[in-house]
Amino acid sequence: MTATGGTPAQRYYDDNTGLLLKLGQGREGTIHRAVWGPGVDTRAQAMVYVDELVAERAARLQSARETPLHVVDLGCGVGATLCRIAARTPIRGTGVSISERQVAMATRRIAAAGLADRVRAVHGDFCKLPLGLPPASFAYAIEAFVHAQSPRAFFEQCASLVEPGGVLVVCDDFIADASVASSAAAQKWIDRFRRGWVVGSLLEPSELDAIAREHGFERDETIDLSGFQEMNRPRDFAIGALMRSFGWLPIKDSYWSMLYGGHALQVAHKRGWLRYLFRVWRKAG
Ligand SMILES: C[S@@+](CC[C@H](N)C(=O)[O-])C[C@H]1O[C@@H](n2cnc3c(N)ncnc32)[C@H](O)[C@@H]1O
Repeated sequence: MTATGGTPAQRYYDDNTGLLLKLGQGREGTIHRAVWGPGVDTRAQAMVYVDELVAERAARLQSARETPLHVVDLGCGVGATLCRIAARTPIRGTGVSISERQVAMATRRIAAAGLADRVRAVHGDFCKLPLGLPPASFAYAIEAFVHAQSPRAFFEQCASLVEPGGVLVVCDDFIADASVASSAAAQKWIDRFRRGWVVGSLLEPSELDAIAREHGFERDETIDLSGFQEMNRPRDFAIGALMRSFGWLPIKDSYWSMLYGGHALQVAHKRGWLRYLFRVWRKAG
């Protein structure tokens, strides 16, 4: 059944989550790309590469504390990353998703993993977080920040959510540099990516850092994962051929929109107009 209410991102994920999980790059329950980083040999490992980067940092912070960290996943999908972290580190976790269907799927996944006593998923907008969310020592957003309708609203919420000394991680796509703005070809493909993937916040890294700083976050670490993305699979060529033949059609169906945006994202990465960055900040205080 196609969703009709809510924001475009909500409709997009309410409609497509089942398909994203079935037709996506892996079977681990994550809704993000495979990253063939150092030490990765299998697709299963590539699918959880970013989750592992997040989990290691959460575990490091937890090891310095006596009480369980509250970890918040901003744009939690079906809760796979949060379950992964909680399975090995005694955190308390909250996943926030704009998609009610994802929240229902995440709740089932958390219960099946036996983690319901300390992990939960809630429906909400990370640009206007649900009231009563306890402060977090560690918050992260994997391939979710680009959907924020306003990057400032996202950081305002993070500034209220994350405790002084706490950590914020964003792993997402960013504009490579200022020269991209003056390339008509780059703008054409980036605009397709924006429309196809319901993108609201596509920034240059320097813009991102300026907003983070305004909200009390100091940059701690950046890993450029761009070169480790998986491109050029046979299905990518098939989708490319489909887009060359029919990509001019108006986007109506949200699955078509997903393919259209995904193809444009690959083109933009291959031509160096976008970067895929893992960025970590620490909240001052
Ligand atoms: C590409 S998926 C990534 C999901 C998950 N982080 C993962 O890696 O498996 C993007 C996620 O962002 C969520 N999202 C998009 N806009 C949102 C918003 N305004 N508030 C909360 N979640 C949002 C979607 O519901 C979805 O869960």
